[in-house]
Amino acid sequence: MKILITGGAGFIGSNFVHYWLEKHPEDKITVLDKLTYAGNLENLEPVKDKISFIKVDICDEEAVEKAINGIDTIVHFAAESHVDRSITGPDEFIRTNILGTHVLLKAALKNGIKKFHHVSTDEVFGQIPLESNEQWTETSPYNPRSPYAASKAASDHLVRAYFTTYGLPITITNCSNNFGPYHFPEKFIPLAITNILEGKKIPLYKPGNQVRDWLHVKDHCRAIDLVLQGGKAGETYLVGSQHKEYTNLDVAKMICAFLGVSEDMMEFVGDRPGHDVKYAIDASKIKNELGWQPEFEFEQWLKATVDWYKQNQVWWKRIKSGEYQEYYQQQYSKK
Ligand code: NAD
Ligand code: TYD
Repeated sequence: MKILITGGAGFIGSNFVHYWLEKHPEDKITVLDKLTYAGNLENLEPVKDKISFIKVDICDEEAVEKAINGIDTIVHFAAESHVDRSITGPDEFIRTNILGTHVLLKAALKNGIKKFHHVSTDEVFGQIPLESNEQWTETSPYNPRSPYAASKAASDHLVRAYFTTYGLPITITNCSNNFGPYHFPEKFIPLAITNILEGKKIPLYKPGNQVRDWLHVKDHCRAIDLVLQGGKAGETYLVGSQHKEYTNLDVAKMICAFLGVSEDMMEFVGDRPGHDVKYAIDASKIKNELGWQPEFEFEQWLKATVDWYKQNQVWWKRIKSGEYQEYYQQQYSKK
């Protein structure tokens, strides 16, 4: 397989590159990434000699067409991904997530790509009331509530339209919140861990009772692998953990306990506008049809993630200090 991984220098994309090289070492991987503030070549440092890397914006039609030449499979992660940033600056989300996805779809169609896998989110479905036991399925109606979720929803619709209208062999996964190594420290779990390691408090959006369906990133990578191997063209698969519910407050308390600090290290801060209170996924389809199961138990892997951040302080301190920008420029000028 000659596989193009867009957004492969980000959190999930880089985990997917590591995963794929281990499981399918015979395949040829090209990572295409613009290296925005969230893209970090250090995430690929251990495997840099085993892959090709190209610094390209997915909105750049000419560069994307060139990159796709000789590729048979695309796994599309590249996106603006942080809800809070989409609230303060939605433009880039519309550009990358909608227009950029469309550029890729056009190029994929023109170049006869055999598989186009689109990586999406459960946030396209909106929110579930806290008191409800509802879980989303593949037929749940779309109801995005943040500019991020709306831009991902639009991209999902475009991807499906390219299957229905032009027969492009697409698949989609809508996954719940991921956590694990290389998670950018603006997102809740890595922000909480690194703040404590820096002696700062965990900022909890009031009232802290919001629920996320946390899934270890390796489980997500395995789900995408199964969809690439056995998924049916045109189909969507929901991916989520279905473990017991943890509120943000529960997660923050666990992180304090793992790091041996008092719960006084949590502080409530003003809530996010339009904050979705709860996400929950019913992953029966991918379980029944493709045999996927989450392998990673939340508390055990949260502890492992805390340990990863303890052991990789250079990685996140460079990001938090802004030094990593310089690192990218240096790295890229060498290539
Ligand atoms: P991330 O922000 O860590 O990484 C995004 C990557 O995309 C970065 O490397 C960035 O440089 C690159 N990128 C951004 N704009 C680009 C552009 N215009 N051209 C080329 N590259 C560009 O994001 P992530 O958390 O790894 O998420 C990856 C994908 O998975 C996204 O599509 C996101 O919507 C989806 N997703 C994320 C989660 C989650 O919990 N993080 C859950 C479900 C789905
Ligand atoms: P986040 O990691 O931004 O993911 P998403 O909003 O895409 O689910 O946030 C996860 C949860 O944590 C969400 O309910 C918002 C909350 N949160 C905080 O309480 N404090 C914070 O500083 C951040 C970034 C998030």
